[in-house]
Amino acid sequence: DGINVAVLGATGAVGQELLALLESRQFPVKNLTLLASPRSAGSKIKFLNQEITVEAVKDDSFQDIDIVLASAGGSTSKAYASKAVAAGAVVIDNSSAFRMDDDVPLVVPEINPEAAAQHQGIIANPNCTTILMGVAIHPLHKVQPIKRIVVSTYQSASGAGARAMAEVETQAQAILKGETPKPEILPYPLAFNLFPHNSPLGDNHYCQEEMKMVNETRKIFEAPEIRVTATCIRVPVLRAHSEAINLEFAHPFDVAKARELISAAPGVKLVEDWDKNYFPMPIDATGEDDVLVGRVRQDISHESSLELWLCGDQIRKGAALNAIQIAELLVEKDLLKLSQKMTTV
Ligand code: A2P
Repeated sequence: DGINVAVLGATGAVGQELLALLESRQFPVKNLTLLASPRSAGSKIKFLNQEITVEAVKDDSFQDIDIVLASAGGSTSKAYASKAVAAGAVVIDNSSAFRMDDDVPLVVPEINPEAAAQHQGIIANPNCTTILMGVAIHPLHKVQPIKRIVVSTYQSASGAGARAMAEVETQAQAILKGETPKPEILPYPLAFNLFPHNSPLGDNHYCQEEMKMVNETRKIFEAPEIRVTATCIRVPVLRAHSEAINLEFAHPFDVAKARELISAAPGVKLVEDWDKNYFPMPIDATGEDDVLVGRVRQDISHESSLELWLCGDQIRKGAALNAIQIAELLVEKDLLKLSQKMTTV
């Protein structure tokens, strides 16, 4: 009994967190297969007192695997997801490769767990900033539909991977020594700096990261009518993202009610001390499962709008934790078997 799990991208920042969560949440792992690029094949990673050897992913890496947790970039997912599904596995994919496909559910378990049941072998984990925003604002949307979202993000280095995090640390040390280090992983210096997200720009002058927030939020909320605009900024923080969010409703939304709803919502914690001017900070959100929300207030420029602020661990709820929660949902609701039936029909 138990589930055969493969982690694709096991050596990365999200991969490492996936392994830690499989352990700490006591996911019923039977066999664990660790997959990465040929660069790290042969290296060993400890899991529950065993040393497991990392293998280079190949077309036939997925025999007897029940769940693949994929976090090795979009091109790797595109290359291997169909192979894994053909071998009978369900792929929970952290990349953007399949998120907007009609036959791929895009799931945040606190928001749309029912969508997972529709899977045909692949379930997509949304973009990190989208997940963090979604868990914070969906409790309000359920009570009064959101008309428009204006969001600005302050995104940590972890979103660009483990090597980007290391680059910010060495860059900061070098700058303090008076040096001018050349960035290698990130496009521009991030230590003591910030820059607009460097994902490719579209014809509308929004970058891909911004359009993910627009399109993925609509898909997860099943609300194509919500208008969303986003500005995504990379900041010199290691691993938690922050977001300033303005929500417009059709009618005024009582602030006290909004705070109550956020306090009661799963996956979210209200952190506000108005007397001390203390609100969520990335250092408080780091390593936390919950998204921290604060500064919930009336927008003084619009009677039917609210302002709020959040910080959430990009690697946890923004990626690895959400993926593990999806895996837990599949096991709990017996949704692995369903997909096996579907793939053999
Ligand atoms: P590797 O360590 O062998 O390069 P991060 O997002 O932290 O940079 O991590 C990316 C993860 O994806 C790593 O585990 C990395 O493995 C893996 N990866 C990157 N490219 C490939 C590839 N072409 N095939 C398989 N795994 C890959």
